[in-house]
Amino acid sequence: MKILGIETSCDETALSLIEASGDINEPKFKVLNTALNSQIEKHREFGGVFPSLAKREHALNIVPLLSSLLNSENGEVKEGIDFPFTEIKEILEREPELFETFKKFLEENPKPKDLDFIAVTSGPGLEPALWVGINFAKALSLAWNIPLLPVNHMEGHIVSVLKESKLEQFPAIALLISGGHTELILIKSWGEYEIIGRTLDDAVGEAYDKVARILGLPYPGGPEISKLAEEGRHVKRGENKNRSEEISFPRPMIGSGDYNFSLSGLKTSVLYKVQKMGELDERMKIEIATEFEQAVVDVLKKKVSGALKEFGVNNLIVGGGVIANQYIRENLFNLMEELEGKVLFPEKDLSTDNGVMIAMAGFLKQFREKPMVNPEIKAEGNLSLND
Ligand code: KG4
Ligand code: ZN
Repeated sequence: MKILGIETSCDETALSLIEASGDINEPKFKVLNTALNSQIEKHREFGGVFPSLAKREHALNIVPLLSSLLNSENGEVKEGIDFPFTEIKEILEREPELFETFKKFLEENPKPKDLDFIAVTSGPGLEPALWVGINFAKALSLAWNIPLLPVNHMEGHIVSVLKESKLEQFPAIALLISGGHTELILIKSWGEYEIIGRTLDDAVGEAYDKVARILGLPYPGGPEISKLAEEGRHVKRGENKNRSEEISFPRPMIGSGDYNFSLSGLKTSVLYKVQKMGELDERMKIEIATEFEQAVVDVLKKKVSGALKEFGVNNLIVGGGVIANQYIRENLFNLMEELEGKVLFPEKDLSTDNGVMIAMAGFLKQFREKPMVNPEIKAEGNLSLND
């Protein structure tokens, strides 16, 4: 099957064209092409993702991205084809600029060859941003007469690990950690999920971003903090002495007995500490970052190992932008070694938001739900995997 994936839930406009084969127990994926535009620079001055700007950027970039995605696809050029422009215009009513560029695109570009269906993210995410992808996918579905399937973004993050590895056994547990999410999910089978724990306030990536802001570091703060923390651990090893005795932060909810997280308290502890310390020099920043990262890792490990034990699971899937963090990765890897289990990570390009994981999730979903031409789809900002 050839599948087009469309992702616009946050600050990345991401498209993919993949080829999927095999059955639901042993799916195989080949990436034919991808096209991605990251808006991260545009949102930097707001210190986070600004929804109306995200919507505008998606609408501006999605057609050029589709052109570049399909560039190498030699479909048939149909002369004088009658597209249902009145209906397409209605679908794109809230994105009038998009309609104009899309109309031009349809008139100038061939329909791709052998495309089986389109998969689009319908949630969770920022609703104004999600709507651009959904309306665009519907318009495309109608124009090309290609079926369309809505996909849960979080399922995309989970199945992204299947690109290179195989999940040997159900149930499995997934830990999803990103700027918007921190969830522990029990995977009973593909499509059957139960959220067993989640953050009650900030997501892990969000906590990194907020702590970075407190320390006067740029957005996104995750990579900045992790760089400092790496340095801090290096110094500690060199000096052979535990410097964090001076700075210590709580491990919120580590002993709560459930699988929920709370990271805003940790962030607040950092804030109080910084207010007390006054002007921070580089070494203080390093020590704060090191202890903050250690607190995050301790909590993640405790919750994950508790869940694995309670549910008798030894396969862990980890997804989301925060696993770019080498220290978190290493710790989860070592934990699974200790427990004689297996951990699956997505490859680097698939750990942050991307279109490939959406097309992959679409492939697994079409075994349980048939894609349809121009279906009713709503953006669901809070779409849950429990649904
Ligand atoms: O999954 P993602 O690309 O976007 C969504 O939030 O959906 O994740 C982005 C988040 C940001 O909060 C960023 O600070 C964090 O991932 N991040 C990191 C690292 N690299 C990115 N957090 C900790 N350590 C990192 N190395
Ligand atoms: Zn994501």
